Amino acid sequence: MKLEHTSVLLNRCITVLSTSLENKETPVLVDATLGLGGHSLALLEKFPKLKIIGIDRDKSAIDKASQRLSSHLDRITIFHAVYDQTPKLLDSLGISSVDGILFDLGTSSMQLDQSERGFSYAQSAPLDMRMDQSSGITAQEVIDSYSRGELIRIIRTYGEEKFAQRIVDNIIEARGDNSIKSTSDLADLIKRSIPAPARRLGGNPAKRTFQALRIEVNQELAILERAIPACLERLNIGGRMVVMSFQSLEDKIVKNFFTQATESKTPLGLPVEIKALSAKFSLVFNGSQKASEDEISDNSRAKSVRLRAIQRVAA
Ligand SMILES: C[S@@+](CC[C@H](N)C(=O)[O-])C[C@H]1O[C@@H](n2cnc3c(N)ncnc32)[C@H](O)[C@@H]1O
Repeated sequence: MKLEHTSVLLNRCITVLSTSLENKETPVLVDATLGLGGHSLALLEKFPKLKIIGIDRDKSAIDKASQRLSSHLDRITIFHAVYDQTPKLLDSLGISSVDGILFDLGTSSMQLDQSERGFSYAQSAPLDMRMDQSSGITAQEVIDSYSRGELIRIIRTYGEEKFAQRIVDNIIEARGDNSIKSTSDLADLIKRSIPAPARRLGGNPAKRTFQALRIEVNQELAILERAIPACLERLNIGGRMVVMSFQSLEDKIVKNFFTQATESKTPLGLPVEIKALSAKFSLVFNGSQKASEDEISDNSRAKSVRLRAIQRVAA
């Protein structure tokens, strides 16, 4: 089993963040999704004075990253935490604001490859799916205890699954006799629930439901919605935030916050811009960037990435 992770758009992230790091005497960056430390390692190597605060909710990622970054531990402080806690963690270090913040969202390849964690429909494993295995409810508990309505809502909304109702009706029937006990039981049930012609389209039929359960178990969207505005407030003038999303619901949240942050609050129709109400942020580039063909052929995870970046321009 390989327990690795090839960092997505590594050079592009470094280039976008460089502007806010290179002219500072001791720049500070938050790596909100440390993972196996690939982005942090490259940044620490490129900027010899850079200090990083690295955060991950997965203890096994923290352990691996700490080993990988062992020769830089004087310049990185690592927290086992959820990234919406970033302001509190910065306060605990006496840091009021930072020059860069990086979010590389979603799961790492290591988490997908650790089959016993239940993220993957490709191998049979307990239905866990928690990024932090020390707290929270598992996918098994979601399947066993949520109402029919809640399950339909989750699978339809977070999985964008057209056949959510059929899948959930089969879940309700199967859970009556305790017959969903593993990722493969669930993947088989999903496959049976989707009409044959639709099964042939859009990849593995379990993909959308597994994504929905993972989002629910880890409360991914609610946490992202709290984290982005709270972290934007902690950027220095000239500081940049880079976010890489891997599915449309996350990207929509990021896009909406970035749009709000870059809009003037001066009421429409006033002849002059009120300085105190002008936007404190500007987009580094319009819209989102995708990976190039070369980047995708180097790393298939890059296929769905959408990279957005924003810079603080006023206090
Ligand atoms: C795609 S990986 C990051 C990979 C990393 N950039 C690298 O190059 O090695 C995403 C990581 O974010 C972590 N993560 C996801 N949601 C999180 C959250 N809300 N708080 C803290 N960490 C989170 C996951 O546990 C995972 O290790």
